[in-house]
Amino acid sequence: MELRPLGNTDIRVSPVALGCWPIAGMTSSGVTDENSIATIRACFDLGVNHLDTAHMYGLAGESERLIARALGDRRDEMVIATKGGLHWDAAGKQARDARPATLRRQCEESLRRLGTDRVELYYLHAPDPNVPVGESAGELRRLMDEGKTRAVGASNVTLAQLEAFAAECPLAAYQPLYNMLQRDIEADTLPWCREHGVSVLVYWPLLKGLLAGRLRRDDVLPENDNRRKYPMFLGREWQKNHDLVDKLREVADAAGHTVAQLVIAWTIRQPGITAALCGAKRPEQIRDNAGAAGWALTPEQVAAIDRALAERGTPEVVSPA
Ligand SMILES: NC(=O)c1ccc[n+]([C@@H]2O[C@H](COP(=O)([O-])OP(=O)(O)OC[C@H]3O[C@@H](n4cnc5c(N)ncnc54)[C@H](OP(=O)(O)O)[C@@H]3O)[C@@H](O)[C@H]2O)c1
Repeated sequence: MELRPLGNTDIRVSPVALGCWPIAGMTSSGVTDENSIATIRACFDLGVNHLDTAHMYGLAGESERLIARALGDRRDEMVIATKGGLHWDAAGKQARDARPATLRRQCEESLRRLGTDRVELYYLHAPDPNVPVGESAGELRRLMDEGKTRAVGASNVTLAQLEAFAAECPLAAYQPLYNMLQRDIEADTLPWCREHGVSVLVYWPLLKGLLAGRLRRDDVLPENDNRRKYPMFLGREWQKNHDLVDKLREVADAAGHTVAQLVIAWTIRQPGITAALCGAKRPEQIRDNAGAAGWALTPEQVAAIDRALAERGTPEVVSPA
């Protein structure tokens, strides 16, 4: 698989990366250690060299621990990104704490769980409303200067926060939400990153499976599936999204590809996008997703996708968990 530069560093990442949230087992059923480890190991043969995780993926860092188990002595073949600044509070809700001391503690814990003395990329997971973003950035810069991470990134930040962050710390990567149906970053942060040589690695490229083409129109998500809280997965929005997926499937079928491959191929060829962080919990999913990397969509295919998106219209906004 082709490799792309990460910001202005000498680190190179595959445009299809493995998102390691699903293997934490917190939002979907059927996650086993065996499958998770096999999914990570499948990356070696597929040429996927980038794993994206976070301190809060799992109540006790299950995602990072599984990565360590799966990689073993091949750790140096992977570009590992992890993140700090979010945690689970006592009530089991996501909470923000990006004070310098917290970021340092979480980074050091992540390194221990990952069984490594440095990661390639360390992100601020989300800005903390009680801490100026420059203060969080300053601590990440110190962690980089100490060799605990080779590069630094920021996730879930606004344009003003990107600018404030970059004023305090060299910024290699930005990690926003982005997919065919949620393209807000094209208005401001994506152009800014292109102008400043910052890589953009996007999450939810498959919209949590909705754009992967395997969910059926008449599927009812189980009670414990946290996707039920997003309007995209419910009622009229759900039906409209399936109308879109049906049209995407026509384009994918005609090219001998899957819908997931079409969606990822489109994503990683959008100007300024370095990689799609594709969540998977079974080896066949990352195999399928990796198959998008070599597919250069034709102008006719892109035009058909654009028509399908125009017919779909603007979706109801959802925000990440
Ligand atoms: N920075 C942040 O705040 C943030 C937030 C969210 C995510 N992320 C990162 O971005 C990554 C991606 O997000 P995500 O994992 O939530 O969502 P995603 O990549 O949009 O969707 C992943 C889900 O799609 C389904 N899937 C994947 N490949 C498939 C295939 N080939 N065919 C059919 N279904 C397939 C699987 O769902 P089922 O098997 O359950 O159907 C999988 O759990 C995360 O893993 C994480 O690394 C970061």
